[in-house]
Formats: sequence, C-alpha cells, structure tokens
Amino acid sequence: MEAFIKKVTVVGAGYVGLSMATLLARHHDICVVDLDVAKVECINGGGSPIDDKEVAEKLASADSGIKAYSTLEEAIPGSDFVVVATPTDYNTETDHLDVSSVIAVCNSIFTMAPQIQIVIKSTVQIGFVDKIRAELPGVNVFFSPEFLREGRALLDNLMPSRIVVGSRSDQAQEFAKMLVDASENPECPIILMESREAEAVKLFANGYLAMRVAFFNELDNFAMASGLDAESIVKAVSLDPRIGDFYNNPSFGYGGYCFPKDTKQLLANFDGIDNALIAAIVESNEIRKSTIADYIASQVSGVVGIYKLAMKAGSDNYRSAAIIDVIKKLKAKNVDVLIFDPVVEGEDLFGCVVVKCFDSFVNACDLVVANRSDKALSKAGCKVFTRDLFGGDF
Ligand SMILES: NC(=O)c1ccc[n+]([C@@H]2O[C@H](COP(=O)([O-])OP(=O)(O)OC[C@H]3O[C@@H](n4cnc5c(N)ncnc54)[C@H](O)[C@@H]3O)[C@@H](O)[C@H]2O)c1
Repeated sequence: MEAFIKKVTVVGAGYVGLSMATLLARHHDICVVDLDVAKVECINGGGSPIDDKEVAEKLASADSGIKAYSTLEEAIPGSDFVVVATPTDYNTETDHLDVSSVIAVCNSIFTMAPQIQIVIKSTVQIGFVDKIRAELPGVNVFFSPEFLREGRALLDNLMPSRIVVGSRSDQAQEFAKMLVDASENPECPIILMESREAEAVKLFANGYLAMRVAFFNELDNFAMASGLDAESIVKAVSLDPRIGDFYNNPSFGYGGYCFPKDTKQLLANFDGIDNALIAAIVESNEIRKSTIADYIASQVSGVVGIYKLAMKAGSDNYRSAAIIDVIKKLKAKNVDVLIFDPVVEGEDLFGCVVVKCFDSFVNACDLVVANRSDKALSKAGCKVFTRDLFGGDF
C-alpha cells in the first residue's frame, strides 16, 4: 500500500481543485496551491473556502492530511502529479476561454520539474493541450474533463458517472485508476482518448445540458405566450422514457460559472464548421432572459423584488446567475428593483438596494420574482412570480 501512495499537488483551491484534493486525500498525500493567501490560511486552519458540505467536512477533519501553500515552489518538490484547476473565464474580446492562468501554471511547473505529470482539470478549448505540447516540447501533460456540480463537488467525484482522460499513456491510466480507487464507484467506466476528443467531451456534455435547459425554457415561453399550462405539458412530454423526467424544470435561463462560457467556447470551436443548433443554444438563453424581463415589466408598474440570486435553492453561490442579467435588463427598462438576499454583503448591488429582512422586502414590493421557489415565499402569497414548476435545480 505504501508504495502506491502518491504525492499530488492541486493548483487552484476552488470547486474543482478542492473536490480533487479531498477525493484523492483518501489514499494519497495532497498539497493545494492557491494565489489567494486567505484561501490558503482558511484551508490550513481546517476551514473551507467553498460552499460544499462534504468538502468542508473533509477539510475540517484532523486526518485530512491536506496542506495548502501560496507558491508552487513550496508544493511541487516530490510530486508525482500536478492537477491544474485554475479559472478559465470567457474573454469576450478574443471570443475564447481565457486560459492564461493554466498556461502560466504549466510553464512554471515545466521550468521547475520538467518530468512531472501535469493533469489539466480546468475547462479548455478543443486543441489546447496540443498547443501546450507544441510550445513546451517534452512536457508531460494531459486533460481530464471535470463533470462535478457546484454544491456536490466531492459527492459527484465519489460517485462519478465516467472518468475520461485525454491520453492513453501509463500515467493517464494510473491517474484514472487513482480517481476510481478513491471513489465509491469501482465499476465507473474509464474512457481513454485523444486530448482533443477529451476536450470536446467536456464542451459537448455541457452544451447538451444547456440545450436541454434552453429547450424546456422555450417550451415555457410558448406556454406563457399561449396561456397554456406549462407544468402539464412538461410532465406529459417527459414521461416518454426517451426524453426522461429530469432536468426539465423551467428557469430564467441557464447560468452559473460553466454553462454560459462553455457553450460560447463550443460555438467558437465550430468556427467554419456547419451548425445551427450550437449557435441557437447561446442565443436561446439570451432570448429567455429578455422574455422573462419583458414579462415582469409588463406585469407591474411598481417595485419588483428579486428573491435571492443563487441558481439553486439552498445555495449561496450566485456567480453568473441568470437572474443577474434579468435584473440588468429590468434596470435598463427603468424598473425599480429591490433585492432580498441574506448572503449578499453590502447594501447595494447592480444599482439595486439589498434588503436583509424578508418581511420588509415583501411589504416594499409589488411583485416578488424568484428563479427558484422555496417555502418562505408562501408568506408573499400572490405577489410571487416564478417559472419554477417542480422545485429543485432545473
Ligand atoms: N465550478 C464547476 O462546477 C466546474 C465544473 C467543471 C469544470 N470547471 C472548470 O474548472 C476550472 C476551475 O473552476 P472552479 O469553479 O474550481 O474555479 P474557482 O474560481 O472556484 O477556483 C479557482 C481557484 O484558482 C485560484 N487561482 C487562479 N489563478 C491561479 C494561479 N495562477 N495559481 C494558483 N491558483 C490560482 C483562484 O484563486 C481560485 O481560488 C474552470 O476552468 C472551470 O470551468 C468548473
């Protein structure tokens, strides 16, 4: 067993990095590196910088064995694998994911320890690893797509649906086996493929999920415009086992950190390749947010209250939430918007007053708008506007 223990350094203490760190810490020695000193101190103090129950429990446990550092130099020596999980936001000027943090980390690691196996978990454009290999001849690098959902970061890797690695090398096979062995799904399929194929898997998987959200949102657009009962239609459509009764709950649009940028990147990779559907996913989501904003503006002449910003009920994570674009569209129409969200710091966001007391919020609003419904909203009665038909995430 001892010989099997590897040292793994994970770069980036976000959802992906900490999911990998806490999963692999079950069998291996783990170091985490993050530029953000507050995150490093938080982890070394037994806290969690991300909103994830299972990750937080693991980091709090005395035997987590995870050490965090703010520089690669402190962590890299002796590492067998370095997992890169730094951000890749969308750059609207280049019309591609901004992979500069991944490139910078790969360059530094290669300079420090050219033989180390680098595993890219950040989402990248199709063709990225080939480019890195061309720029750093001799570098050992492959891509392995990450499929976790925020809020289930560790759980999704404990029960992975598949493990995909963009290489067939011995190290790729070893890394895949380390992920399966640390999981609770020993039967999990392992798929080894070319790096461009693995990069495509990630973007097409998120593209499909975003398309499904967009499809049921357009069904809902149709039902709203035609005075039809969307809930009955969605239920009856979804009872066909080829369609399935899941991931079919209308929302104000897909959002969050990944779908908006990954769908745009997939479309960018289609440059010069025939498509209609891929472009339509991105466009449909923009249309949905405008449709929702137009509808809200048409229903009320007074104050519109936004009930929480998070995409998912019970979450406090609202980065790139669709409701933010709806708020901006309402403000552009000069609608008076108030936000209720106890997790938002400060008293002003996007030019709207943020209220922390629910009762005062409901009293001050003519319409209470909720992307995701919850029990507390029963107090707001008929003031509530939501398209959440079934509860839950989507
Ligand atoms: N969040 C998800 O659900 C999810 C799922 C699958 C894939 N991904 C992809 O994984 C990547 C990371 O996503 P995330 O949600 O974990 O990001 P995150 O923003 O939560 O965390 C990234 C961390 O990297 C750190 N960082 C940035 N540059 C660094 C550098 N040069 N060196 C060290 N640390 C650095 C940041 O301080 C931050 O703590 C992205 O490419 C994302 O698209 C995310």
